[in-house]
Amino acid sequence: MSKKNKTLGIEGNLTNYGDPGFAAYLRRSFARSMGYSVDTLDRPIIGIATSPSGFNNCHRSMPELVEAVKRGVLKRGGLPIDFPTTSLGEVFLSPTSMKFRNLMAMDVEEMIRAQPMDACVLIGGCDKTVPAQLMGAASANVPSIQLVTGPMLALPFQGERLGACTDCRRFWGRYRAGEISDAQIDEIEGKLATTAGSCAVMGTASTMASITEALGMGLPNSAAIPAVHADRLRLAEACGERAMEMAVDRGPLPRSVITRDSVENALRVLLAISGSTNAVIHLAAVAGRCGIELSLEELNRLSDETPVLVNLKPTGEHYMQDLFAAGGLQAVLWELREQLNLDCMTVTGETLGERLKVAPTWVDRDVVRPFSDPYQKEGGLVALFGSLAPTGAILKRAAADPNLFEKEGRAVVFNSLEDLSERIDSPDLDVTADDFLVLKNAGPKSESCMPEAGYLPIPKKLASAGVKDMVRISDARMSGTAFGTVVLHVSPDAASGGNLAFVENGDRIRISVKNKVLELLVEPSELQRRRSGWQPPVIPERGYSKLYRETVTQAPDGCDFDFLKAK
Ligand code: FES
Repeated sequence: MSKKNKTLGIEGNLTNYGDPGFAAYLRRSFARSMGYSVDTLDRPIIGIATSPSGFNNCHRSMPELVEAVKRGVLKRGGLPIDFPTTSLGEVFLSPTSMKFRNLMAMDVEEMIRAQPMDACVLIGGCDKTVPAQLMGAASANVPSIQLVTGPMLALPFQGERLGACTDCRRFWGRYRAGEISDAQIDEIEGKLATTAGSCAVMGTASTMASITEALGMGLPNSAAIPAVHADRLRLAEACGERAMEMAVDRGPLPRSVITRDSVENALRVLLAISGSTNAVIHLAAVAGRCGIELSLEELNRLSDETPVLVNLKPTGEHYMQDLFAAGGLQAVLWELREQLNLDCMTVTGETLGERLKVAPTWVDRDVVRPFSDPYQKEGGLVALFGSLAPTGAILKRAAADPNLFEKEGRAVVFNSLEDLSERIDSPDLDVTADDFLVLKNAGPKSESCMPEAGYLPIPKKLASAGVKDMVRISDARMSGTAFGTVVLHVSPDAASGGNLAFVENGDRIRISVKNKVLELLVEPSELQRRRSGWQPPVIPERGYSKLYRETVTQAPDGCDFDFLKAK
């Protein structure tokens, strides 16, 4: 190892006693108390950021991934040291995991920066964990590789495969409509998520895994390997080996991998896989950590020219395991190659173009379509602008009903999540299938911290009459596994005094996906009248809730804390 490339190992980031020699001596002494031999402590250190938790089913397989990463590091002569960070299990957190993504990102950033490590392997999987790790790693800017836990398997039940969580929603919708019984929904509950790993469809976790690969922060063709497949353990071992090379080379650094061009590549992939709307927020946050602004106008430009190539639920038919068998994300990147910035550096030290020098040997065209014959001609997501969303809103058009794209309707307004749950199924609710359901006060600045509540249920009386979709508008998010004509992330949100706060029952709203417009058809003078006397919500007095509510930014800025973005 040349002097220039000398890694710091156990003597990196010394504790400050005002005497570095003493700090190194004390650290070595305490490290030796864990049984390390002297020569082991002289090796480069690869940190392994782990997030297993009894409250995180998606990270169930993490212990064996950690072991495999360690094998790879040891093979190359390094010292692997794993450390825990916050873990965010999507369905185990209240009010929503989104409130805690930035907490985990701060934890990851500070633990990478504070502890002695020459490179880091980040292991995450569930929805918020991968964005949090990418955000933290980008800010710490120590050589890092992202390893995802991989998707669950969708396994057969009574003749059809079930996978979390598009099927969860499908069956819940049928249950609400009275099509299946209590006993049936109980039985299905035990069949939707049956293996380790993240959700089995192209939801937020799988989208973020794909984006990780497109950004160049993961190893090639890693996103779709099922959590329980032996290839994922081999991938983990390879991550350990590669992290050792990065430690010695002191790079590539996250901020030389995450660039304006690689963020554009990630957006292209997001559109081509018809990925989760949440990923727009997360990608904006990751980019923001590198001083890059993600523009929703740019998203629209890319969306108009990037076709949907992947036939996966919730917009298509298949599951992540089918994408793996079909050729993986590499097959998608190959089809998109003429639209991608091929000069982008990746964690392997190769450019994206070098990764794409050779065509995939076989691709299942039922799952990954050729660029010349796409699944849909335009990208899966579109941003809408107008008086109801001056700084933007998002619609997953690939998962919506095109019959509702050019439409004017009457607003049926719910002032909060509590109001929604109290009244949505009331027989007295004045609502028709042509109305627009509007939910306020579920955005980032609200008390509910932007939960996945934007997929408003169809009112029971309409659902039982066979209505499957309606225009639904909110400042909330939606699960990446959901579908419907659901306009999300309306910005500025109601809790920060955006126009959404002043929509009233009976107002007219116009949506035009063709023109990318979302207009509240109320005179500005009337809106001004409604605005007078408006009070922002009360901020909690202490703790993380206070920090969150005071500093969280709007969806187009990634809902990061304002002081965490790179200058
Ligand atoms: Fe963890 Fe879906 S609940 S990825």
